Amino acid sequence: MSEKFKAIVIDNQNEKFTREIQEIDISHLKDGNVLVKIDYSSLNFKDAMILKDGGRIVRKFPFVPGIDFSGTVVESQDDKFKKDDKVILTGFRVGEAYFGGFAQYAKVDANFLIKIPKSLDTHKSMMLGTAGFTALLCSFAVKAKEELLLGEKVKDVLVTGATGGVGSIAIMILSKMGYDVHAVTGKKDKNDYLKDLGAKNIIDRKEFEGESKLLEKGVWDGVVDNVGGAYLTKILAQTKPGGIVALPGNAGGIKINTNCMPFVIRGVKLWGIDSSGSSIKRREFIWNEAAKLIDFSKVQLFTKEVSFTELLDVYPKLLKGELFGRTIVNPNK
Ligand SMILES: NC(=O)c1ccc[n+]([C@@H]2O[C@H](COP(=O)([O-])OP(=O)(O)OC[C@H]3O[C@@H](n4cnc5c(N)ncnc54)[C@H](OP(=O)(O)O)[C@@H]3O)[C@@H](O)[C@H]2O)c1
Repeated sequence: MSEKFKAIVIDNQNEKFTREIQEIDISHLKDGNVLVKIDYSSLNFKDAMILKDGGRIVRKFPFVPGIDFSGTVVESQDDKFKKDDKVILTGFRVGEAYFGGFAQYAKVDANFLIKIPKSLDTHKSMMLGTAGFTALLCSFAVKAKEELLLGEKVKDVLVTGATGGVGSIAIMILSKMGYDVHAVTGKKDKNDYLKDLGAKNIIDRKEFEGESKLLEKGVWDGVVDNVGGAYLTKILAQTKPGGIVALPGNAGGIKINTNCMPFVIRGVKLWGIDSSGSSIKRREFIWNEAAKLIDFSKVQLFTKEVSFTELLDVYPKLLKGELFGRTIVNPNK
């Protein structure tokens, strides 16, 4: 098959970093055994770092970024997939080590793909993308307190980085699960938006800054912390006995400073979330649950569809914290 297709190509020659829309030939897709025609991709924090300067994540150039995509199988050398299957890819180092989703075609390992459940389609799956998948993983981690660990019913759940992609979708899911969601944000003008998603209470992020005691009054049954850093010290100290803190992000810093007390006195569990390496079994479970927990008409309200040209304009805003909501990338726009 010889066909040209459009892709965003990043390059780093003679220490000059470039990003441009190029036409490349399908024969350049060397990795993997399933060729997919891409309908949509999405913009995530990691994509923005890679588009800026490779983010110390991409090591080989020229390279096609994009850590997630949805589309239709064109050719498959693996029995698990056949032509016309609709598929989702998130993570597995695609868009980091293997050519990714900011392209009209991608070729990936069959073990990285899952079929789109009947309750979703290629557009809905990338409205969620890696951020939505991560929000679902976090929400089920919190729910594990009452199910897997047979603990008491979860009531109060804290979500930090509330107006971000993961935070916004987590609020929607957790409120649908029946929990009282307390949203932490630095954006004072987004209270109505957060309430509309299902947040019961809005907290200014400043309240999580400053010194924390070893243990504070326990108020959270569960937490989805997108910010990490210094916030996590206070969050762990404020988590109730047996509570679960799901940690997907580090938007506020990578270093954490805590103590043993929340863990040994209260049995608090810190649950790291790595969406990229999740097993296929877990992916299938999570994506199958999505339509039951997500109101797509609401997600649509904070999703903007962009072309490749528009993507190259907007990604710096994500890094500066100026972009709000989800950005879905249409390679055919
Ligand atoms: N582990 C995984 O598998 C995985 C997957 C996806 C994303 N992530 C990570 O999860 C985090 C959230 O991702 P996202 O896609 O939701 O990113 P995002 O859309 O950029 O949202 C991050 C939010 O965090 C808050 N924030 C940003 N900088 C902050 C700071 N310095 N201090 C305190 N709050 C700050 C802001 O919310 P407010 O203005 O509302 O406070 C912002 O909207 C990122 O760190 C991302 O890299 C991890």
